[in-house]
Amino acid sequence: MLFQEFLRAPTRVATVTASSDALVTAMLAPHRLDGPRVVVELGAGTGRVTGALQGHLRGTGRHIAVEINPVLAERLADRHPGVTVVRADAARLPAVLGEHGVDRADAIVSLLPWAAYAAAPVPRLVADALAPSGTFTQATLRGFHLLAPARRQAEDLRAAFGSLTASPTVWRNLPPARVLIGREPH
Ligand SMILES: C[S@@+](CC[C@H](N)C(=O)[O-])C[C@H]1O[C@@H](n2cnc3c(N)ncnc32)[C@H](O)[C@@H]1O
Repeated sequence: MLFQEFLRAPTRVATVTASSDALVTAMLAPHRLDGPRVVVELGAGTGRVTGALQGHLRGTGRHIAVEINPVLAERLADRHPGVTVVRADAARLPAVLGEHGVDRADAIVSLLPWAAYAAAPVPRLVADALAPSGTFTQATLRGFHLLAPARRQAEDLRAAFGSLTASPTVWRNLPPARVLIGREPH
């Protein structure tokens, strides 16, 4: 299904493989997920992160998954009845949170591709949506950090967060990836 959707919108879907367990673990490790939390996913895709987050939350807190692709969003909603799946552009994040009565998120987990960052000020939007103690994670491909979109993404994230670090490379993901971790939203 991901391959089919990639053929329809290659720059938006941006991958033909679902995130590996190793990448999902690296995406969630920086977050505090004990106790009731408000968690937001951006570009939830096939739902690998969605399922893992539901396992951590154990029926507590709020979990909102934003996905622009109608086929993937419908599938997510069918598979994860405990998650508020919103078919929307991540650029509408403030409106989406407002419409669902969420003031601030404790954790934002993003699988958004560079194209989404080029189209909207994603770092600013997520920093504004996070609680002061909240954390943001973004999966990013390894080895492309010198390309213009990757440099712009890192620069914009650095401007939006007091602390921006990167996980070790997750070699067991196809393609190898790392996780950018934003803390202390400005
Ligand atoms: C890299 S893929 C995620 C696939 C992932 N590896 C997985 O495990 O399913 C990026 C996802 O972000 C979604 N997406 C792209 N641009 C978006 C946007 N502006 N707003 C919300 N979702 C978006 C795509 O439809 C796709 O599902």
